[in-house]
Amino acid sequence: MTETVLVVGGGGREHAIARAVADDCALYACASVRNPGIRRLADGFEAIDETDPAAVADYATEVGADLAVIGPESALEAGVADALDDAGVYAFGPRAAEARLETDKAYQREFMEEHAIPGCPDYAVFDDTEAACEYIDEYDGDLAVKPAGLTGGKGVKVIGDQVTSEEAKAYLRDSDYDRVVLEERLVGEEFTIQAFVADGDLRTTPAVQDHKRAYEGDEGPNTGGMGSYSDTGPSLPFMREGDYEAAVEVLEAVVDALPEYKGVLYGQFMLTDAGPKVVEFNARFGDPEAMNTLPVLDTPFVDVLAAARDGDSLPELSFSGEATVCKYAVPDGYPTDPDAGAEIAVDEESAGDALLYYASVDERDGRLYTTTSRAFAVVGRGDSVAAAEAQAEDALAAAGDRVRIRHDIGTADLVQRRIDHMDDLRS
Ligand code: AMP
Ligand code: GLY
Repeated sequence: MTETVLVVGGGGREHAIARAVADDCALYACASVRNPGIRRLADGFEAIDETDPAAVADYATEVGADLAVIGPESALEAGVADALDDAGVYAFGPRAAEARLETDKAYQREFMEEHAIPGCPDYAVFDDTEAACEYIDEYDGDLAVKPAGLTGGKGVKVIGDQVTSEEAKAYLRDSDYDRVVLEERLVGEEFTIQAFVADGDLRTTPAVQDHKRAYEGDEGPNTGGMGSYSDTGPSLPFMREGDYEAAVEVLEAVVDALPEYKGVLYGQFMLTDAGPKVVEFNARFGDPEAMNTLPVLDTPFVDVLAAARDGDSLPELSFSGEATVCKYAVPDGYPTDPDAGAEIAVDEESAGDALLYYASVDERDGRLYTTTSRAFAVVGRGDSVAAAEAQAEDALAAAGDRVRIRHDIGTADLVQRRIDHMDDLRS
């Protein structure tokens, strides 16, 4: 039987999800962004606000969807999975109550503490700005200041890294966050593991390292993610034996404590001198990380979705064994002062062997232009991170100079810096 799948969301991540299922199903998609890549793959596309649960559920019913994959956290928070489930369309994505693991950072830490999930840093929750500022003054060490709610990855300020204590306090006083989490600053190298979860079953995918800072050399403000790489196996070059497994144990502990969880469980870890600690959990694929993972997943993703819906044990996953490097092209000035309206010069032809994923672009008279968000990404694959990086760069040669790219992602130099950093910390 051919499944009818609805993909919710219109970014690079959702383009990767759409491409992973397109050949094996009847594909429909809905999003507020008219992603040209997704629209080309789909049998039907509807411009819908993806945070409107009733509108998404109506569209799913109208197209006869059996399954839905929800990309963005905003949709999960709004209860899109709940609405789809209630309409009889299996949503591969948690209901709003379970998505709180991502959408409420205070709940996330309290959940970890209550269930003794390993890897939880020291933390405290405040709903009073002045009390939070006092805590900053009195705390012995650096803190990460985190608004409890969703901020698109841009709300966290790390004292001793991006800001001073004084700047962190000013940031809190100038913003009007209802609740903030202050937690021990974790020092090390970050990595992501995404797992497919249903009925207490969990299947993990290779670790990925994202690059959140806007500029080369990890400078500048945090972004939604400028690019990412994965290696030929599950682990990354700066990780040692046992690190990947320790992180998977954390994800398993979450699923044991939350057996009703379904969808992608994304663990963001800091590899410290004491092993992996949890930076956060997300309740969906990462963007860009989905673009590293899905192209090397040989197991049909539709089989994972159908097994989840049918209550079958999830298939064992097989991967191609290729390394991947993903680089986003973003408007000049992104994220603080993005230059919208620049024409985009890369297309599938000029991308060559690399994969091209569209994110936020405007299509006018057959031409594509930047908006204020990340525009498109290319993914290179190869038998090493270096080979994948070279393929991604070849594809980007046509991108022109009106978009900005972190050319350092996946380069031998940067990967070596990660290795040296961990060697330093662990010696
Ligand atoms: P989050 O939204 O929780 O993923 O935080 C965004 C980014 O802030 C993370 O990817 C880290 O780079 C940084 N961050 C968050 N929490 C911490 C922490 N406890 N220690 C150090 N850095 C952190
Ligand atoms: N790449 C980070 C995220 O998707 O949250």
